[in-house]
Amino acid sequence: MTEHRSPDAHFRTSLLEENDGPGANPTDNQTMGEIIAARFSRRGFLQGSLAATAIAATVSPLALILADDARANGGSAFTFDEVEAGVDDKHHVAAGYDADVLLRWGDPLFADSPEFDPTKQSAQAQERQFGYNNDYVGYIPLDGSAEHGLLVVNHEYTNPHLMFPGLVTIVEGEAAKQAPLSKEQVDIEMAAHGGTIVEIRKVSGKWQVVRDGKLNRRITSNTEMVLSGPVAGHDRVKTSADPTGTRVFGTVNNCAGGVTPWGTYVMAEENIHGYFSGELQEGHKEAANYKRLGIPEGAYEWAAHYDRFDIGKEPNEPNRFGWIVEVDVNDPTSVPRKRTAMGRFKHEGAESIVAKDGRVVFYLGDDERFDYVYKFVTAGKFNAEDRAANMDLLDDGTLYVAKFAEDGSVGWLPIVFGQGPLTAENGFASQADVLIETRRAADLLGATKMDRPEDVQPNAANGKVYLMLTNNSKRKAEQVDAANPRAENAFGHIIEIVEDGGDFTATKGKWEVLLKCGDPAVAEVGATFSTATTANGWFGMPDNCAIDAAGRLWVSTDGQGPKATGRTDGLWAVDTEGEARATSKLFFRVPIGAELCGPLFTPDDQTAFVAVQHPADGGEDWEAFGRPSYYEDLSTRWPDFKPDMPVRPSVVAITKQGGGKIAV
Ligand code: FEO
Ligand code: CA
Ligand code: CA
Ligand code: CA
Repeated sequence: MTEHRSPDAHFRTSLLEENDGPGANPTDNQTMGEIIAARFSRRGFLQGSLAATAIAATVSPLALILADDARANGGSAFTFDEVEAGVDDKHHVAAGYDADVLLRWGDPLFADSPEFDPTKQSAQAQERQFGYNNDYVGYIPLDGSAEHGLLVVNHEYTNPHLMFPGLVTIVEGEAAKQAPLSKEQVDIEMAAHGGTIVEIRKVSGKWQVVRDGKLNRRITSNTEMVLSGPVAGHDRVKTSADPTGTRVFGTVNNCAGGVTPWGTYVMAEENIHGYFSGELQEGHKEAANYKRLGIPEGAYEWAAHYDRFDIGKEPNEPNRFGWIVEVDVNDPTSVPRKRTAMGRFKHEGAESIVAKDGRVVFYLGDDERFDYVYKFVTAGKFNAEDRAANMDLLDDGTLYVAKFAEDGSVGWLPIVFGQGPLTAENGFASQADVLIETRRAADLLGATKMDRPEDVQPNAANGKVYLMLTNNSKRKAEQVDAANPRAENAFGHIIEIVEDGGDFTATKGKWEVLLKCGDPAVAEVGATFSTATTANGWFGMPDNCAIDAAGRLWVSTDGQGPKATGRTDGLWAVDTEGEARATSKLFFRVPIGAELCGPLFTPDDQTAFVAVQHPADGGEDWEAFGRPSYYEDLSTRWPDFKPDMPVRPSVVAITKQGGGKIAV
């Protein structure tokens, strides 16, 4: 969700992620901007040292071949014909490819699911249909197949002004006004959140949904879940409905996520603050904890109908959200588990990799201005022979937070009760306390304040970890110096990390900026795309990313638009090796108002799945529309383009015409 959409504050759920606040971090810890500034002032020395040592030592033969390809082409190693950047009401894919809509909001998933009818929405129907605002997309092969598997998709949030007829009124000379939601509409919202697990199959080169596949499942904001790990059963997660502190109903704001090496689906709970309303009693012991997370924010109206979202009535309920949720997709009746050992914050995603010694490392971003990057290292080792042996790996391990240093090193600081400042003196009585207040623990450890960490993606092909920092317009001028002229980081940047010894469990690594984003033709922006990057090829606001089977980086964006960058969001192929490094090409772009989530490549690289999220959320900035966009007056009716059908967030399958890999 971005700051560029729906400037009308009445469309509050559109603004939840990118609100106007300065960020919730109260500490004096160094900002990423301050550190980059210091680094760039010593740029020559640092580039030389990092290029010659850390990265060269870990570059794989595959990466070197890719670099050679890039050099031979005198530019990008990607040979597709670039899409023209711009803004309109449709999606666009590179010539020679098909972009087919696979799953739309409301599509039936089960034999008994009703067909989508926007005039007859109900929570009961929505629970049996594909949910709203698809974000993370994962593929779990069935029988090892690249053409038959389970698609797992997060449904991050809802936009009532785009979903429900009759909510919005436009008064001459005033902003658009949104009426309160009915209880029935709130119930539909709750059913439209969560996730979808759905069997899909490629038939004659085209993907199809297997309606009523035996593993198909909807997870919602009411699905019963278990709290597991160190926080389970703690007093701070007990509520009147759950005196055991172990049973939670539902999950919210599932942004990005991951698929574990053992084939489970993990969902990250991100902007939990928007779902809570009310006021804590004066002097309540959770006041500082909730303030650090911006709770309550109240963008959603759920507390009007359900007491558990009112912190005055149920003060511990927010401590039961903000976790990573693991789902065993092999059993549609399995109880999802909130894995508390992985910390509680505004979790963006949870991509993982098996380290050399068999332990599994998850990289975790906390998406808020001036918040942190984490990783979780399991205590146990991955067992490739016995899936069941891995099912509780996420309950025991060490959570670390990143501290980036000016000398190009990064330290991973353990967040462990009793170590350093994480003691009774600072209000922690146990590891459960530390995990419930992960942000405060990281504050005390002196972690580095980042420019909104979104996806963090390890790449097995070259040993690097890519970190998307989407933007931070609130970074003040005094927090940068002349060597880093971006007083406001409006367009974000991408950092790559190489862990010491190529060991993902290492507590030290090296880092380098791969790319500072924005228009390279505007000197003041300070973007660092290669000169081979065309006027279509640059982008801003990196958010999600994917590594294809050949180890190449693809970046999708959130927050571009007519005014911000003169282009909608989309999917860019980014060279990371050799002379082509930091060359970017536009492969796919979304309709007005949307961001692009996913993206995901099938194991054979023949399909890219992308999630078009919140299309039509915005239109004021677009000259061709120039007014608020809402159910009755939408800036696009993608993907159906029928007058009686609203805009629908959808997952799109991109394939090459005639077959073959997406990119060579
Ligand atoms: Fe939900 Fe940080 O994007
Ligand atoms: Ca985002
Ligand atoms: Ca989003
Ligand atoms: Ca995101």
